Amino acid sequence: MKKILSLLACAALVGCSAKQETAVSDFDSIQQFTLKNKNGMIVKITNYGATITSIIVPDRDGNMADVALGYDSVEGYVNAIAREYLGAVVGRYGNRIAEGKFSIDGEEYELATNNGENHLHGGYMGFDKVVWTAEVVADGVKFSYLAKDGEEGYPGNLNLSVTYTLTDDNEIKMHYEATTDKPTIVNVTNHTYFNLAGEGSDSILDHVLQINGSKTTPVDAGLIPTGEFADVTGTPFDFRQPKVIGKDIDADDQQIEYGPGYDHNWVLDRQGDGMQLAATLSEPKSGRVMEVFTEEPCIQFYSGNFLAGNLTGKSGKVYKERSALCLETQHAPDSINHEGEAGWPSVILRPGEKYDTTTIYKFSTK
Ligand code: BGC
Repeated sequence: MKKILSLLACAALVGCSAKQETAVSDFDSIQQFTLKNKNGMIVKITNYGATITSIIVPDRDGNMADVALGYDSVEGYVNAIAREYLGAVVGRYGNRIAEGKFSIDGEEYELATNNGENHLHGGYMGFDKVVWTAEVVADGVKFSYLAKDGEEGYPGNLNLSVTYTLTDDNEIKMHYEATTDKPTIVNVTNHTYFNLAGEGSDSILDHVLQINGSKTTPVDAGLIPTGEFADVTGTPFDFRQPKVIGKDIDADDQQIEYGPGYDHNWVLDRQGDGMQLAATLSEPKSGRVMEVFTEEPCIQFYSGNFLAGNLTGKSGKVYKERSALCLETQHAPDSINHEGEAGWPSVILRPGEKYDTTTIYKFSTK
């Protein structure tokens, strides 16, 4: 495989300057990597937040477009007014933990409540806000980060890495690995916002989505799972057959009102462990298709409801409400507070164990 792998210093990427309000003391350590495969697909990733900044793929006629939302500068990412986690790895616990509280083995922990009364995506300085160490590997880049014991309230020194590789089958593979020296919780995921018509396009309401899940974990008004499982049959949440996203997104339904729209966790209909197709997204006009494969038990479909039009993206276009969506493979939000309950696989990582999980975004056209 022929692949161009280039490393750009921050200065080459943007005019960089340190800003006091960020925790980044060393802007020069921020790098961007470009992966290119034999089909001309290009993926750009920075070690700031282990963030995917760009995914350039062809449509059915071979026209290339960038389908991932992003900023045009490092400063955009570092100083984001709207904390939207564009393209980043989120964690130590992706999505919400009720009131930021949980316990392991009777020991209670308290995390930052950075989303109303709840904890979201790792807190104020989650993994999206730190500089990772980068290492070029075959066909990709490995990013590593040591999350210290007590960082954002989480127990245990967590040695985490994510390896991104780009294959000639137009797959972005994300392989997450972690170990800890104290019992802790881990649930990391990638938070790329997609619009398959190209970033900056108006809406994802015309995209067609299929999710291989017949149950969701319904939420309360704060988007915390109630602990129940809901059958999708006859509800706006039934994506078992491909469905236009706009069809039911404003349905008269309490869960939709809470979203508002889709911001929910689907439990995947798994056949055992291992890699399985979780979701397929397509955009009719361009013919672009993205499949999500994962080893995770669940997927969060977030329809970009909180994109508020206060964020200008890399091509100068404003990112409006529902102009992009996320498909975040994961364990269900707040799983730690359902530890041991049926249907809630554990999110606890103990010393001697290895967190090891892979998710794939695969692009094609039809
Ligand atoms: C959450 C949303 C949140 C968004 C950006 C998603 O993963 O489910 O509720 O607004 O991330 O923070």
